[in-house]
Amino acid sequence: MIIKKNNISSIKLIKYYKLINYNLIYNNKAINRYKKDSFEISVNKADNLKKLKKSIVEIRNCTLKKNAKNIVFSDGNPKSKIMLIGEAPGANEDEEGLPFVGRAGALLDKMLAAINLDRKKVYISNIINYRPPNNRRPTNEEIKRYLPFISKHIEIINPKILVLLGSTAMNALIGNEVVISKMRGKWIEKKFGNCKTSVIITFHPAFLMRQPAQKKMSWIDLKMIRDKKI
Ligand code: URA
Repeated sequence: MIIKKNNISSIKLIKYYKLINYNLIYNNKAINRYKKDSFEISVNKADNLKKLKKSIVEIRNCTLKKNAKNIVFSDGNPKSKIMLIGEAPGANEDEEGLPFVGRAGALLDKMLAAINLDRKKVYISNIINYRPPNNRRPTNEEIKRYLPFISKHIEIINPKILVLLGSTAMNALIGNEVVISKMRGKWIEKKFGNCKTSVIITFHPAFLMRQPAQKKMSWIDLKMIRDKKI
C-alpha cells in the first residue's frame, strides 16, 4: 500500500517536472534567454566590409547584376572563425538578398545543426554575388570577374576555417585542375592576402539533394570541421 502511494507521488512529481521544464532543476542553472551571439565587430572590419559591398554594387557592365533583383553579399556572424562559400545565389536568395535561403539552404542548416552550428555561429557567402539567369552555372569569365571580391571578403573575415561548398567554389579558389571527389575531406592551408586559413572542401547541399548517397561522405567532412582545433 505504501509502495503504491509512493509510486503515485513519483508519477505526479515527474509530470510536474516535465510541466515546468525539469532541465531548469537538473542543470541547476537558469536559462539565459537574453544572451545573444555577439556580432559586434571592429570599426575597421565593418568599414572594410562596407567598402567591399559598395565596390560590388558599383560594378559596371555586368549582365548578372543587370538581371538580378538584389545583391547577395553574406549572412551570419562576421566575427565567426568559420566561413562557408557556395556558388551563386538562386531565385530565393535573389529575392531575399541573403545566401542559402532556399531548399539547398534548408539542407545546409541541417548540416550545420548536425555539428552544433547555425547561421549565427558561421559566416556565409558565395563566389558570385548576383544570381545567374535560370540558375545556370556561372561562366569562367564571371568567376574571374568576381574572384577578387570573394578573395578580399575572405581576407576581411579572416576565418580560421574556410569551407568550400561544391566544385565551383573549389575550382575558383583552389584551381581548375582539381576534382572534388579527390579533394574533399582534406585540410589545405591557404593564404588570402594576410589571412592564413585551413580550407576544407565538401559537397554542395544542392548536389547532396540530387545524390543523397553522398551524404555519408559529407558527414565525414562535417565531423572534421567539428573536431578541428581552432
Ligand atoms: N546555392 C549556392 O551556391 N548559394 C546560394 O546562396 C544558394 C544556393
